[in-house]
Amino acid sequence: MEIRELTGQDAEQYWSLRLEALETEPHAFGMAADEHRKLSLEETAARLQGRPDHKFTLGAFEGRDMIGTVTFMRESGLKERHKGHVYGMYVTHPRRGCGTGAALMSALLERARTFPTLEQIQLAVATSQKAAAQLYRKCGFETYGTEPRALKIGAEYVDEDHMVRHLRA
Ligand SMILES: CC(C)(COP(=O)(O)OP(=O)(O)OC[C@H]1O[C@@H](n2cnc3c(N)ncnc32)[C@H](O)[C@@H]1OP(=O)(O)O)[C@@H](O)C(=O)NCCC(=O)NCCS
Repeated sequence: MEIRELTGQDAEQYWSLRLEALETEPHAFGMAADEHRKLSLEETAARLQGRPDHKFTLGAFEGRDMIGTVTFMRESGLKERHKGHVYGMYVTHPRRGCGTGAALMSALLERARTFPTLEQIQLAVATSQKAAAQLYRKCGFETYGTEPRALKIGAEYVDEDHMVRHLRA
């Protein structure tokens, strides 16, 4: 398995894997699959190309197949640039339990440490996503609060735990 930073050239595979994520794990992500379907490949490529000093998306590959992704974005304002955020952690179902999620998070932390002002990384995880929460705890994240009814899917509400990992003591 190889982990590398995605570029615009990965747009097609990324778009498909992201749709799979949003369709199969609706509680895990803030974006709805219908919203994602409206995104063109050009827009997806532009987002992946993005600003490498600000945001990056990692892909995990088995051969040429993308089997997992995760995105990091840092704040840029003077008062918030010590913070960054993790979004879109996903590993395709048949490849779970083999260390891909942990490898993605470890690569994210390594790359994020190259941002000079960064001190902490935050994320929100739905209380239903037990494997993800366990993965984050294993990687040093701690829960600092819970947002009740963070998402509403039809008539159903989803609570989210907010977690932080400090990069410096
Ligand atoms: C969360 C997710 C990315 C984990 O990917 P994965 O490749 O299966 O994870 P790994 O094999 O690297 O496991 C790493 C750690 O995660 C935890 N974990 C993984 N699967 C787990 C499970 N089914 N139950 C409990 N903990 C689990 C364990 O701590 C594991 O470490 P260990 O093997 O030493 O016990 C994957 O389950 C997934 O895509 N879930 C749906 C999407 C989602 O919830 N995303 C989070 C959005 S915030």
